[in-house]
Amino acid sequence: MSKENQAAGAPLKAVVGIIVFLAVAVYLLAKLATSGFQVDAQVMTKEAVAARLKPVGSSLASDAPPGQRTGEQVYKAVCMSCHADGLAGSPKFGDAGAWGARIGKGFETLSTHALQGFNAMPAKGGSPDLSDDEVKRAVAYMANAAGAKFTEPAVGGAEGGAAAAADPDVVGKKIYDSICVACHASGAAGAPKFGDKAAWAPRLKDGVDAAYEIAKKGLNAMPPKGGFSGSDEEFKAAVVYLTNSAK
Ligand code: HEC
Ligand code: HEC
Repeated sequence: MSKENQAAGAPLKAVVGIIVFLAVAVYLLAKLATSGFQVDAQVMTKEAVAARLKPVGSSLASDAPPGQRTGEQVYKAVCMSCHADGLAGSPKFGDAGAWGARIGKGFETLSTHALQGFNAMPAKGGSPDLSDDEVKRAVAYMANAAGAKFTEPAVGGAEGGAAAAADPDVVGKKIYDSICVACHASGAAGAPKFGDKAAWAPRLKDGVDAAYEIAKKGLNAMPPKGGFSGSDEEFKAAVVYLTNSAK
């Protein structure tokens, strides 16, 4: 090696050293953050089971509004507590061998099993306040991590303009099914129930537009826009879909 090469090699070594050090530091920080979340998520899951009747959104560790969590967020908040380690015989996350035959059943069957329960797999992973689409997103997320090519059902608010351009009835139903259903299907927290004429009549006496304005701002336990983060137009489609059910 010539003298010049040796001189050039020293700073290079220093740079490589710094890069390796940074990579290790980032990895350790990430580890720390994930393990903290894991403990959290387990506590949250227990709470979620205990507090079945609590309004959605208060019981899961996520900033996303009810019904809007991605597959990854749902997995980390709920499913991970069993599927990360293969607890109780569950197929382990990322284990293509354990998932292969299950993936062969198809997305619909796997989703039905995750929604309704399957042997030691509890319905919705024990978190009844997850929307059906959230559970399906988590199914796709987990199966895809083990080699499947399923499409995660889209998150309502993230579709933006594309959804607004579609048929308002379809958009309204889609938003209702992923968000409003959490309270308005069961009448949770005093919400007027889907299809319940008596509950809706006094609210609709001034017309749908008036009810829309009230729901947009929020009313007692009804969060502004029901927690929906998309456009006013899309939210209105959901109000129309919901109120049409009770006409
Ligand atoms: C309390 C533990 C537990 C939690 C929490 C849990 N699972 Fe499971 N899961 C299981 C077990 C056990 C099985 C295996 C059941 C069997 O095959 O007998 C399973 C199997 C599955 C399967 C495969 C079903 C099939 O037809 O082969 C899917 C899909 C699934 N879980 C999705 C989920 C999703 C999505 C979540 C989170 C919302 C979740 N699980 C949370 C325990 C759990
Ligand atoms: C966290 C539960 C919850 C969610 C989610 C929710 N709502 Fe509500 N909603 C309520 C409750 C509770 C009321 C009744 C409030 C009251 O009268 O005190 C209500 C009332 C309403 C009303 C009637 C307002 C009026 O004029 O009396 C409309 C319209 C409405 N919701 C639409 C929606 C739509 C559309 C969505 C989905 C985008 C949605 N809500 C999501 C709880 C919810």
